[in-house]
Amino acid sequence: MKKIMLVAVLAAFSLTSLFAQKYENLALTPPMGWNSWNKFACNIDENIIKGVADAMVESGLRDAGYVYLNLDDCWHGERDSLGFIQADPVKFPSGIKALADYVHSKGLKIGIYSDAGRKTCGGRPGSFGHEYQDALQYAKWGIDYLKYDWCESEDINPVGAYNLMRDALRAAGRPVLFSMCEWGTSKPWEWAAETGHMWRTTGDIFNCFDCIDQHPGWAAYGVMQILDMQNGLRKYAGPGHWNDPDMLEVGNGQTVNQDRAHFSMWCMLAAPLILGNDIRNMSQETKDIILNKEVIALDQDSLGIQGLKFAAEDGLEFWFKPLVNDDWAFCILNRTTEPKEYTIDWQKFNLYDDVARRFTDFDSKVYNVRNLWTRQEEGNTKKMKSVTIPGHDVVLYRLSMNKKKK
Ligand code: GLA
Repeated sequence: MKKIMLVAVLAAFSLTSLFAQKYENLALTPPMGWNSWNKFACNIDENIIKGVADAMVESGLRDAGYVYLNLDDCWHGERDSLGFIQADPVKFPSGIKALADYVHSKGLKIGIYSDAGRKTCGGRPGSFGHEYQDALQYAKWGIDYLKYDWCESEDINPVGAYNLMRDALRAAGRPVLFSMCEWGTSKPWEWAAETGHMWRTTGDIFNCFDCIDQHPGWAAYGVMQILDMQNGLRKYAGPGHWNDPDMLEVGNGQTVNQDRAHFSMWCMLAAPLILGNDIRNMSQETKDIILNKEVIALDQDSLGIQGLKFAAEDGLEFWFKPLVNDDWAFCILNRTTEPKEYTIDWQKFNLYDDVARRFTDFDSKVYNVRNLWTRQEEGNTKKMKSVTIPGHDVVLYRLSMNKKKK
């Protein structure tokens, strides 16, 4: 009898490790939260993070859906004598468990950062060779989200490395959202739907609307460059597995127009909305952008279909995103620095979306038009419509049909 039990236990164990899966249902819509990197880089400590937790609640961000508070690089100290990673004792004297408890007490979730290589990009200990130990430590601390980077990984196979950490997280037993950060190098959209909940599609974002920050051997990219690099990827995203065009720079010093365009486009892309500004000190303009519930609703739409660029003309781009109830989001992006007058002839936008398998049908359907930034109803799609799109800005509409009540 004992023998049979033992065999059954061993069989169950090897089956789980053979078929280890990521945690399901953690990211049915794109994850939302905040991350320390874009604003603070390596200069984080427990007081900053606690202040951010307080601000996420007080500003209304948590209630708008931004629930993950994520530490990025440089929280680490050394490994202990058994190899378990510890927090930097100077920056985080109370330790990560106490910080996680604090974050959880605010109704938020906490994320942490590591790297598949030997060292993180900031030179802290990576998880290579310690994957199961690190996953266990995170579970003990109460971590809910792991961003897993790709520095010092030259001789490592990405599929193996990311699946290894997925399996380690699974074995540790605490549901963790797995955010893969290998910069799109190995085309994770082609292989990672069963591995992670989101994957970076590009190198790092640079806090600039339209430029490239070129270094020998690597580059960081402005908002428009990252947008262009999403071409062709929409069919790979969906509930539970998202393309990640990197964290937001809204509120970090670009103009209000640029911030509005940046936020709108990330919502059109069904991108994870991970804020990167100092939310303890935000302007009203920044709040108005990141807390606009109707714009967030485009991103969080339960269909989970990434938007498409339908056409481009004279510095303008015309984007559509299919939404539930046969609605569409429609965005005109002005990539030039000058305001542009444009007359929308809806008939020009009769399109078939082969991912949603749906037509816009402007020739046979009439949609009501709601401007999501001015929050005004602006008639319907029966008539042509003239608009002005400021430079480096958007107009953003939700198109909804009059539904007859049954
Ligand atoms: C890489 C990542 C960034 C950030 C830094 C931290 O560059 O892509 O998002 O995490 O490392 O060092």
